[in-house]
Amino acid sequence: MKFVFATHNEGKFKEASFILSEYGIKIEQKPIKGTEIQAEDIIYVVKHAAKNIRPGKDVAVIVDDAGLYIDALNGFPGAFSSYVQKTIGNKGILKLMKNEKKRSAHFDAAVALRTYDKLWVFTGRVNGTITGQERGFLGFGYDPIFIPEGESRTFAQMKLEEKCKISHRALALGRLATMVRNIGLIRQTIY
Ligand code: IMP
Repeated sequence: MKFVFATHNEGKFKEASFILSEYGIKIEQKPIKGTEIQAEDIIYVVKHAAKNIRPGKDVAVIVDDAGLYIDALNGFPGAFSSYVQKTIGNKGILKLMKNEKKRSAHFDAAVALRTYDKLWVFTGRVNGTITGQERGFLGFGYDPIFIPEGESRTFAQMKLEEKCKISHRALALGRLATMVRNIGLIRQTIY
């Protein structure tokens, strides 16, 4: 089976390659049109995107969507993380959080696996806090302002291998990979 990871995002692809290689799954990167829609629920986003793909019998396509949810901002930017990152960016988020004592937040990831005749969705979450200022240059997106629980460094201060041990994407893709290896042995969502 050939695994294709549908994204334009180089950072996501690098992480997914690393995470899935630990399970013996090799992926190819392919930006597939229609896989990056915006909606309020990331599970809906990946499900909808994956439903519109029709891979051949020897191909499985993975679609990934993620969001950062900040408690003090009632879950903002959430499903709008992509737009917010492109517009106000990390500096804009830090401005909104200025003088805010409650710093808790989480990242959610949803990944869909689409084969010729099936579709599965898996999720992963990592809790953490929002920093006062940007820290670190690694990773991508909101990594410089997010410290995962139990850590003192931001995701952007961690090597790829370190982030990929604990991230929302690692959890979701780990579940997907386990299912791929042991179909029927773990809980799965079939739509
Ligand atoms: P997407 O819709 O899944 O591509 O991501 C929404 C936004 O969240 C984009 O701006 C990404 O850069 C950002 N994002 C997604 N995953 C991560 C992550 O693991 N770390 C930091 N930012 C992320």
